[in-house]
Amino acid sequence: MTDNNIDAAVTYGTYLKVDELLALQQARSEGPEHDELLFIVIHQVYELWFKELLHEFDQVMRLLKADDTPRAQHTLKRILTILKVLVTQLDILETMTPREFLTFRERLQAASGFQSDQFRQIEFVLGRKSEAAVARFRAGGRAHTALQRRYTESTLWDAFLHYLAREGYAVPADQLSRDVARPIAPSDAIQQILIDVYRHDAKNAELCERLVDLDEGIQEWRYRHVKMVERTIGAKPGTGGSAGAGYLRTTIGQNLFPDLWAIRTRL
Ligand code: HEM
Repeated sequence: MTDNNIDAAVTYGTYLKVDELLALQQARSEGPEHDELLFIVIHQVYELWFKELLHEFDQVMRLLKADDTPRAQHTLKRILTILKVLVTQLDILETMTPREFLTFRERLQAASGFQSDQFRQIEFVLGRKSEAAVARFRAGGRAHTALQRRYTESTLWDAFLHYLAREGYAVPADQLSRDVARPIAPSDAIQQILIDVYRHDAKNAELCERLVDLDEGIQEWRYRHVKMVERTIGAKPGTGGSAGAGYLRTTIGQNLFPDLWAIRTRL
């Protein structure tokens, strides 16, 4: 083996780019303040999980398109497991008291999770799209390009409806050709199909249950995030310029897949 080959040998550090990774936590406070590292690490870890979630959402939509139900189920299970970790991570940040946060909060200026394009991408995949969210990012940049692409692409719900149609259910044509940028609106025809699925089709009822888990999991994160915000900054406005917890409370309790919830009283 030549010296060159030894240099090029893959190690834990070179494969994972550990040196580069550990250089990415750059505090803005003087000192820096002790708790700022935790704040940065948590957010960076979230962004990595968001990246992985988007990767898995793309996979689950591909698998549904290929009618590969077992692997779609398997991928959804992975997504749900990651989501549980995302919710649990908030516990760590809740060990930071309001006064500890104040030691560096003003250094954040207008920076806020509100500006996380990957979070918006996840919302887009799940059918909550917004032109205003795309427009907040610089045209031509990574975030804008990714959001614009996802704005026009099918959502997970659309992939599911097309899959149901191929499974033999009479999904109305207007649902299959709906404008995928529009919000997912409740549909009597789809609810009738879902009731049929739950009564007679255990395989696809399981798939429906995983989508409900996903919907509930995202709502669980929103609820836990707003409680964390309330206990950390009370009723103060957010750094992103919103009313803070007051704004966040308006995002709670909105079902992503309304038909899956509507049928429950009729099952
Ligand atoms: C001390 C910790 C935190 C506080 C006080 C806080 C506060 C806030 C506030 C006030 C907002 C509303 C927008 C604004 O005006 O800024 C917001 C939005 C948001 N935050 Fe946090 N946050 C914290 C931690 C986190 C973490 C760890 C994440 C993980 C990525 C996160 C992700 C988000 C997202 C995605 C939004 C947008 C939600 C939406 O528009 O539906 N936040 N946060």
